[in-house]
Amino acid sequence: MKGPYRLTLVPGTGVARQDPFLLETPDGELAFDGAGPAVVGVFARLCERGMTAAACAEEVLAGEGMSGLLRFEYFLLLLFERGLISWSLDHPAVSLTPENALFRPEENVFSGPLCLSRFAYCRPEQGNLVWRNPLVPASLAFHDAASAALPGEFARPRSADEAPKGYTAEEWTAFIGLARNAGILVDPSEEEDPHARTWEAHDLIFHNQARESRRGDSGGTFRFKGVFPAPPAEKPPVSPIRDPIPLARPDLAVAEYRDPPFPRVMEERKTVRRYGAEPISLDDLAHLLYRSARSRCHIEQPHQDLLDRPYPGGGAIYELEVYVAAKRVVGLAPGFYHYDAMEHRLCLLAEPNGSLQALLQHFRDATGIPEIQCGLVISSRMSRLAWKYQRIAYSITLKNAGVLLQTLYLNAHALDLAPCGVGSGNPDLFADLTGLNPFEETSVAEFLVGSMPP
Ligand SMILES: Cc1cc2nc3c(=O)[nH]c(=O)nc-3n(C[C@H](O)[C@H](O)[C@H](O)COP(=O)(O)O)c2cc1C
Repeated sequence: MKGPYRLTLVPGTGVARQDPFLLETPDGELAFDGAGPAVVGVFARLCERGMTAAACAEEVLAGEGMSGLLRFEYFLLLLFERGLISWSLDHPAVSLTPENALFRPEENVFSGPLCLSRFAYCRPEQGNLVWRNPLVPASLAFHDAASAALPGEFARPRSADEAPKGYTAEEWTAFIGLARNAGILVDPSEEEDPHARTWEAHDLIFHNQARESRRGDSGGTFRFKGVFPAPPAEKPPVSPIRDPIPLARPDLAVAEYRDPPFPRVMEERKTVRRYGAEPISLDDLAHLLYRSARSRCHIEQPHQDLLDRPYPGGGAIYELEVYVAAKRVVGLAPGFYHYDAMEHRLCLLAEPNGSLQALLQHFRDATGIPEIQCGLVISSRMSRLAWKYQRIAYSITLKNAGVLLQTLYLNAHALDLAPCGVGSGNPDLFADLTGLNPFEETSVAEFLVGSMPP
């Protein structure tokens, strides 16, 4: 990319050894054979404040002649191809930094109206305001408040041809080049194709951040180890336990010959939105919870204790909890209960109240079932899961919730109960019913169950 840019090497890059020359980069070490002292000196400065391409060339030419310069340019090309070079301006104070090796900036030749991408978002990071477009593997950091105000100019499409007051034409063109390449400023028609229109910004951001497409730590990094203790495997009681209700345990040996065979359960499972005249019983509910969601045992581990449950769960962390919104369950008073998965019992959290009414109304609206018998709210103890997993924690918890939903569906069918998933829920109602800090635990999925109609 041509322009008055200062080149720097991306954060995490440094000179590991001078002779023979070795660069340490976020993607591993890179050896450069034949680099003389001038080349090494320039690279050392590129790792710090940076230099323009012209200043680099001048310094290398003076120190090592034309052959040194050719070698330096070849090294620079290798670094460019690996997405290890950032471009910075001092006025406005911005820098464009690749976030993987696939980033390929282009010369900016477009001259129509530009606007902020509807997918662009900004976050404060280490004292800078950093913008990203989830589709572009690069970030655009603004280093002072005056520069940070510039994206606001493009809240509506406008021509970028004329530099605003305080910027020369060259500075402005260079800035537009960075913002275009970062995908922050776009030609409005670029985002109008039908497939692009179906994506909402929050989905695209989540999708790209939760996949391993960008540099940086991701996966099971245990980043809070030694910072604060892992939240315990078994959820501490939500409130002083008032008369917990022990639940019936099915005899699984009996279930082995009473249940329909597995292929039939798989093939015949259906969502059922009508119920029998006699509501679901507490024992039916107990059997469903036992076969689907109980904790079979606690597993001590050096980093973080784990659990064992009937459904598979990422890392065996088992951050999911189940709550019962009981409306018409024979043998169970209406109310909102926590399912204690280790003890296999229910603990009452809230008698029927406005929030429970609102939750039941939500279930009716979402499914068209006029008389709800029992709703299960699946919550995630996100802080327990994210103590281990970085970047991917929320996506893992949604996958886990999907796994639990299918487990509930299959067991409900085997138990001759009427299951129905619910596609949306309300974490505010959940917080109100439980009194829990949403950072610690929040609702992520819902499921209805009732008696099977004749
Ligand atoms: C995650 C999930 C969310 C769902 N959300 C709803 C919902 O909000 N309302 C509803 O009536 N059914 C809901 N369902 C049930 C689906 O509509 C149903 O599974 C689908 O129509 C296929 O029918 P089947 O389950 O009978 O095979 C949901 C199912 C799943 C797995």
